[in-house]
Amino acid sequence: MCNRVFKLVVSTTSMFLFLLFSGMALAEVPPTDEIVIGGQMWNNWTKTSAGGSGAPTGETSGDYYRCKACHGWEGKGTEGGYVRRSRKDSRPNAGAGDGNATSRVIPWGTVTAAMITRTGTGRPITRGSASWVALDAEASSANTAAHHSGYTEGNLHPDYSAAAATQAAGGGNMPNAAMTAAQVANVVAYLNSGLAGPTPFFDFIFPAYNPVLYVMKANADADAGETYYNTFCMGCHGDPATDHNGANGGAPGGGILAYLAKDGKFSEFAHKAMWGSPDSIMTRAAMGSPTTQNITDVMRYLQILGKTGFPMDACLDGTWWGGVAKSGEGFNVEVSLNGEGKKIFNIFFYTSDPAGGNVYLMATGLVDGNAADVVVSIAAGGTWDDPTGVATADWGAGRFVVNDRGTVIGMTVTPNATQVAAGYTAVTYDLIRTTTPVNACS
Ligand code: HEC
Ligand code: HEC
Repeated sequence: MCNRVFKLVVSTTSMFLFLLFSGMALAEVPPTDEIVIGGQMWNNWTKTSAGGSGAPTGETSGDYYRCKACHGWEGKGTEGGYVRRSRKDSRPNAGAGDGNATSRVIPWGTVTAAMITRTGTGRPITRGSASWVALDAEASSANTAAHHSGYTEGNLHPDYSAAAATQAAGGGNMPNAAMTAAQVANVVAYLNSGLAGPTPFFDFIFPAYNPVLYVMKANADADAGETYYNTFCMGCHGDPATDHNGANGGAPGGGILAYLAKDGKFSEFAHKAMWGSPDSIMTRAAMGSPTTQNITDVMRYLQILGKTGFPMDACLDGTWWGGVAKSGEGFNVEVSLNGEGKKIFNIFFYTSDPAGGNVYLMATGLVDGNAADVVVSIAAGGTWDDPTGVATADWGAGRFVVNDRGTVIGMTVTPNATQVAAGYTAVTYDLIRTTTPVNACS
């Protein structure tokens, strides 16, 4: 009796906590004006709508002082969308190929003003784009050394300061247009807000894939994303699949889906769609002041539409089954290369036949993004320790599609007329993993 009362109290309390937390999850606190300015600063702090007053004298290539240029749009450096970004005279990078291996991953939640300003310790503006030394056609050791040191130097975090006195005297690192104290506070507020970085939008980012593979938040809802896109983006960007040149001024060229198919672009997309593009008509307000949920919903919708989600590849290799309802059968998946070096999806299917015996089917087909259309064959004949009599026959066709998290393979297989006559029917259901892969794919 006593125990029952205790259980009742516990469950009522957990119900209350559940409601409390789910309520909190539903209502994301809208970002303050400071955080919104900080978000735009991450893109380019010198723009007016980001609280800036133009480019600092002495640096002609804006990327040398833009936060996103060295840290990546999602702030994970080479562990994110900028894993393969090249270093050029016009821009630094997130450290790919750099002699300085210090992580560029932002310590979200614990960022301080001093980490940003670096008064007297950051890179002087004269060592920005001016640090770049191109490699000579005729390589010399001096030129190669200068190239490497300039490479690393230009990637260093800048000194964003100019003390009031030095500013008045025309000195300081960024004399004409230093980051103001209010701006520093804003970018710190943004980085510590819980709305910056990858976690509000993505569950995983796999930079080893090219293009970078993004797995959206588990609760991302493609239908809600489609509605959001149609309501708040379509007017300027048009159909995501077509190159549009309306109120978007032609950006992004080729249309939204073509843009998202490029390397690392979901990081940039999440940032611009959440915070707007500074000093453009694409303000946060013009996009309906989205929540992080709205953005991850829109991205899942566009990822499914553009087939830029989880590809069919060796990360799927292993053993799968149809869940409890289909207990008794099993599937082995192997993605391999055919003679022309093209990826093929192979699946071996152990199950029961219409007469109550055991049977195995084999399906194989070319991979197309996250799906494969397959031909299915059936094996019969042979005896124990003497498989020479085995013959395979056509069974039918099918289609396998991996979901955008790599956790479910949707299967549809359809028998041909001969197999229908033998009692087989078309089936459609989902396969899930029974084993955990050893590699870091999922
Ligand atoms: C030219 C490249 C470059 C630019 C531009 C740049 N950073 Fe950095 N930043 C780095 C590098 C490299 C590091 C890691 C090594 C270090 O701390 O110096 C770093 C480190 C940091 C850190 C971590 C500091 C710590 O002590 O842990 C923060 C926070 C940061 N940057 C924020 C920003 C912000 C905000 C901006 C834009 C206003 C920005 N960075 C612009 C290169 C850059
Ligand atoms: C009022 C018109 C307008 C609306 C509404 C709008 N955009 Fe934009 N968008 C633009 C313009 C203009 C640009 C180019 C801005 C720039 O270059 O600074 C742009 C650029 C972008 C880019 C960057 C493209 C690139 O090449 O860098 C992305 C991503 C984007 N928009 C996504 C969205 C999404 C998602 C929505 C809806 C949530 C949206 N936009 C709503 C006008 C709009």
